[in-house]
Amino acid sequence: MTIRWFPGHMGKAFEQIQDLIKRVDVVIEVLDARLPHSSSNHKLQELRRSKPWIKVLNKHDLADPAVTRAWVKEFERQSGVRALPMSAKNHADTKPLIKLCKTMAPKRGKPGFPVRVMVVGIPNVGKSTLINTLAGRSLAKVGDRPAVTTTTQMIDLKNGVVLNDTPGVLWPDMEDQDGAYRLATSGAIGAGAMDSAQVGFFAAAFLMARYPGLLMGRYGLAELPPTPHELVEAVGRRLGCLAGGGEVDLTRAAEALLRELRSGKLGRISLEEPKPHEEPCDAAGEEA
Ligand code: G4P
Repeated sequence: MTIRWFPGHMGKAFEQIQDLIKRVDVVIEVLDARLPHSSSNHKLQELRRSKPWIKVLNKHDLADPAVTRAWVKEFERQSGVRALPMSAKNHADTKPLIKLCKTMAPKRGKPGFPVRVMVVGIPNVGKSTLINTLAGRSLAKVGDRPAVTTTTQMIDLKNGVVLNDTPGVLWPDMEDQDGAYRLATSGAIGAGAMDSAQVGFFAAAFLMARYPGLLMGRYGLAELPPTPHELVEAVGRRLGCLAGGGEVDLTRAAEALLRELRSGKLGRISLEEPKPHEEPCDAAGEEA
C-alpha cells in the first residue's frame, strides 16, 4: 500500500520560510535522529545558500548512538553546517544549542542584537518540544497529530537568542516510499494515512536484518523465524494479541511491535544510515 501523507499547505510554508530566512542569522533544522534523511524536507536545502545551519538530531535517546555519530560526521562535511544530537525533552541536552547559535553568529548575541534563529522541520520531529524546553515554559503545543503549530511566534529566550517558530508545515518526500515506510515506522505519520499491518511487516523485516539480537533478547527467541510475517506472529503470541480461536491478530500484533520499537523498549534503533563515501585514493591507488 502506498503511503500518502500531506500534513499541510507546503507552498505557503515555503514562501514564509523563504522570506524569514533572509531575516535570521542561524537556521535550526530539527530532524529525527533515527531517520535524518527521511525526516528532512529536501527542498529546504535549496533555500540554504550560505546561511549558518544547525541540524538538530532529535530523539537521540531512541537512536543507535554509533549511527548518530556517523550522521553527525556526514552532515558536518558541508561547510557552515553543524549537527547536534539531543533529546529535546532534556534541558541539559539543549544548552549546547544556544552556545552553538552564538558561535555561528559571532557578530550578534549582544544586548540589543540577539541572534535571530529560525526553527524548521517536518511534523512530529520535536520542534514544539525543543522550543518549550529552550523557553523553559510551554509555548508551543506538543502532540503527535501533525501540523499543530499554526501561527508565527517570536520567542525571546532572554539569553541573547530570539527564536522564530515557522508557522507553515513542511512535509517529507513521499515519492520515496521506502522513506515513507521508515517515517511510518518511527511514528511520524498518523495512523489514518497507512496500513499498520504493512508498516509492522516492513519494521519486522528491517529489524530482522539490522537488529536481530535486540529482537531475540526482547521476545525470548532462540532463533529468528524465517519471514517478517512469522516474526510478527511470534511477537503477537508473546504479547497476547489474540483473536477468537487463539489465532494471532496480525494487525494488533504489528501495532504492538511498532509501539515497542517507537517507545525504545527494543533498544536504541536507527532506521537509516548515511551512504558510504568513497575515500580519496593516493597515486598508488591506496586509500588516503
Ligand atoms: P513537532 O512540534 O515537530 O510536531 O513535534 P512535537 O514537539 O509535538 O513532538 C512530537 C512527539 O515527539 C511528542 O510525543 C514528543 O513528546 C516527542 N518527542 C519530542 N522530542 C523528543 C525526544 O527528544 N525524545 C523522545 N523520545 N520523544 C520526543 P507525543 O507522544 O506526541 O506527545 P507526549 O505524549 O510526549 O506529550
